[in-house]
Amino acid sequence: MIYLDNAATSFPKPQRCHEQALSEYFQISASPGRGGYDAAVLAQERVRAVREQVAAFFGGEGFVTCFGYNATDALNTLLQGLVKPGGHVVSTRLEHNSVLRPLHHLREAGVCTYDLVPCNRLGLVEPEAVARAIRPATELVVLNHASNVLGTVQPAAEIGAVCQERGVPLILDVSQSAGVTPIRMRQWGVAGLAFTGHKSLLGPTGIGGLVLDPALEVRPSRFGGTGLDSASPLPSREYPERLEAGTVNLLGILMLGRCLDYLQTPEAQEAGRREATLHRRLVEGLQDLAGVTLHCPGHGPQRVPLVSFNLAGWSPGDAGMVLDGDYGIAVRAGLHCAPLAHEDLGNGDAGAIRASLGRYSTGEDVEALLSALAEMLGAKS
Ligand SMILES: Cc1ncc(COP(=O)(O)O)c(C=O)c1O
Repeated sequence: MIYLDNAATSFPKPQRCHEQALSEYFQISASPGRGGYDAAVLAQERVRAVREQVAAFFGGEGFVTCFGYNATDALNTLLQGLVKPGGHVVSTRLEHNSVLRPLHHLREAGVCTYDLVPCNRLGLVEPEAVARAIRPATELVVLNHASNVLGTVQPAAEIGAVCQERGVPLILDVSQSAGVTPIRMRQWGVAGLAFTGHKSLLGPTGIGGLVLDPALEVRPSRFGGTGLDSASPLPSREYPERLEAGTVNLLGILMLGRCLDYLQTPEAQEAGRREATLHRRLVEGLQDLAGVTLHCPGHGPQRVPLVSFNLAGWSPGDAGMVLDGDYGIAVRAGLHCAPLAHEDLGNGDAGAIRASLGRYSTGEDVEALLSALAEMLGAKS
């Protein structure tokens, strides 16, 4: 398989990091924070260290990290825990369903209203548009940092400045940008972010979470044991326990920690530079193919390495099936869980084809896709 669906999940994974974490897990797999014996204390200590590592990785030193399953879980926790009855949220039309659906749910339940700011023709959300959408009742701005459809990275620092000026917390969804572009929570004025471990952070599925300025009061939406104040029927007030009912995913946390270490090695950084060069070749190769319509083409530091395009004479679904069946190339066709982004591109329900690179993509992968597309276009001309 030629794997070009890294925006869905990264593949392959850095096996050594995962194996090191697994062997550590076998040594300390006690319940973190749930016992006074050595193994439980050690497990708790390792989890605490990865919490700090995650916060520092995102430039949120001193902020709290609460673990959960993935970005969807974290965004639900943040939205349901921050929005109050009668409140208003500003977000964008580039959001993933992990934001659009919780917002829709909250509106249907009569809790809040929201406005979605469109991006400009370069695929960027303009800070002035966010400023115009903020009202007195606005409690939150939620922004997809890097579009999983366009690959554009939003001006988070400028939008953060707008939010700070208006006293509205900015929540960043870093699902696509984490591990690809630097993220500086404190510097940019980001009050909370949601991350997922299994994309460019190279971790396993089932581990993600949020990093939060502890000044933000997030009401818990799940309740249960935390290892603290067990006699009380009330949830723990302290972070991270307040937002972490039940036993955490120790193995996933250990794996995530090892992957964050790995991402800072010269080897991984070199792989990141190679990925950026391949992205450029992919964009330029697609631009040279008559019959390819690229959506917001571009490459460079303000991009994550993915491209979305349509192919003359082919529905995205059929093209994806032929790429897989005839050429062994895995891409993602359809709406990419971001229906409004596709609506604005005029793609309707069929969406587009998305090819997304990873740290282990090769020049041969890119050339194989380009030549398959050339053949497919030739077959329809
Ligand atoms: C921008 C964006 N947000 C959120 C998500 C949800 O990630 P997860 O399924 O890991 O929760 C994705 C995944 O595709 C994404 O691309």
